[in-house]
Amino acid sequence: MVNVAILGYGVVGSGVAEVLTENANQIGRKAEEDIRLKYILDVRAFPDSPFASRFVQDFSVIENDPDVDIVVETIGGAKVAKEFTERALKAGKSVVTSNKELVAEHGYDLLQLAEANGVSYLFEASVGGGIPIIRPLNQCLAANEIEEICGILNGTTNYILTRMIRAGLTFEAALKEAQQNGYAEQDPTADIEGHDACRKICILSSLAFGRHIYPKQVDTQGITKITLADVAYAESCGCKIKLLGRAIRLEGGQLCAYVAPHLVHGENPLAGVEDVFNAITVKGNAVGDVMFYGRGAGKRPTASAVVADVVDAAKHRKTKKYLHWGPGAEDAVAPAGGLESGWYVRAEAGAEAVRSAFGEVSLLARAGAPGGETAFLTGAMSGPALEEKLAKLGGAHFALRVLD
Ligand code: HSE
Repeated sequence: MVNVAILGYGVVGSGVAEVLTENANQIGRKAEEDIRLKYILDVRAFPDSPFASRFVQDFSVIENDPDVDIVVETIGGAKVAKEFTERALKAGKSVVTSNKELVAEHGYDLLQLAEANGVSYLFEASVGGGIPIIRPLNQCLAANEIEEICGILNGTTNYILTRMIRAGLTFEAALKEAQQNGYAEQDPTADIEGHDACRKICILSSLAFGRHIYPKQVDTQGITKITLADVAYAESCGCKIKLLGRAIRLEGGQLCAYVAPHLVHGENPLAGVEDVFNAITVKGNAVGDVMFYGRGAGKRPTASAVVADVVDAAKHRKTKKYLHWGPGAEDAVAPAGGLESGWYVRAEAGAEAVRSAFGEVSLLARAGAPGGETAFLTGAMSGPALEEKLAKLGGAHFALRVLD
């Protein structure tokens, strides 16, 4: 018998309790042992819950119970969650989490702590919700040097962009709709400013490239400045606007990692990923391109990934299951500006001025464009080279990378 305690009975924690109970037979078969939900920690009381008798409010009950083998941390954030994770690991319990903020900021230290205490720290649910990506990167693609990871890593922003493209809603209206549907938080900053996608590309990069990549090392741009004009110009050249997290191995071993909205050509499979779905493409030097697609958020998809880790932790109680990467370094990440790409530019300038600053470009058109607005696609150039030309052009402008 393996005993589990869940910390935090929010959307994900309650989903884990539900799936563990509902699929107990299947889960027990896979784990080769029965898995019992012994405790749920929450400051709130849930007298009507089917799990009412298992609630505790004091973490030390779980910490000091030698029968608890696995702690599921679904509190979120990097404060209390960090303290409880450290205490659980030190108490010899494996920890499973969906907490991307904690893993992105402190993953290296927590993995070290787990190893020192002979237990596992697993976080399949921290990236891509229900999509299997951590385990495939770590195991199934282990034979490869990973050359690039590129993905739609945030469901809320993908929903907002989809509604702007499909229904012609403004960013503000689409955000409101996402909040009404329960996708976006009341404070949507982490999603719409790209911080959530940044944490996820940090975790994938750390795992794939072998050293801790911190969120502060990753240039991050959200979707708040995208307008319906940009959506229309993108459509005019067969593209969709998508918020992408990218990590690219450069010659010399440095990594280029960043989060930004891109124009994605219609034939690229990422262009067809809509609503709250996520998709991640991985390029390995042996396997080539692999793509992972599915529900990147939500109660039961995320619980599905958490419970898979519970099963893995249960099966590895004797031979431990370690994920591993090395410490971070200040020079581990190269500035994203150095990466050359084509660019989409919308500028307050005439076509002649654009040609004089940029040379030959592909001009774009949209219905209802005001006089003095010119939008165009450039050839491949770095961020600083683009800035230089934009400075020469003068006036207001907005630019996005085009995904090769
Ligand atoms: N806020 C996140 C999203 C939840 O919208 O993708 C899943 O990490």
